[in-house]
Amino acid sequence: MPATFRREPQDIPLIITVDGVDFEGVEGQSIAGVLLAQRRSAWRTGPGGSSRGVFCGIGVCFDCLVTVNDLPDVRACRRPATAGDVVVTQSRHEERA
Ligand code: FES
Repeated sequence: MPATFRREPQDIPLIITVDGVDFEGVEGQSIAGVLLAQRRSAWRTGPGGSSRGVFCGIGVCFDCLVTVNDLPDVRACRRPATAGDVVVTQSRHEERA
């Protein structure tokens, strides 16, 4: 019996803006996934000045917080990227300065 192959759907490209810079991703990626795929591993600064990005990747640590479409404190690892999203990075370190 010949093997049957199931064709995977084509990736649907999208573009989000992060701090005014376009980042290309594909539908189904989280915002963190888009950033990581573009080799951006850190996008905020913790209270002590250390770099933060994805730590747990499952929505527990809150290290990946960003502002998305004017909504602050969104976990980038849990938020699916949507074409046209406007993402602004956050920094607790800067808030204290
Ligand atoms: S990486 Fe831990 S909540 Fe997003």
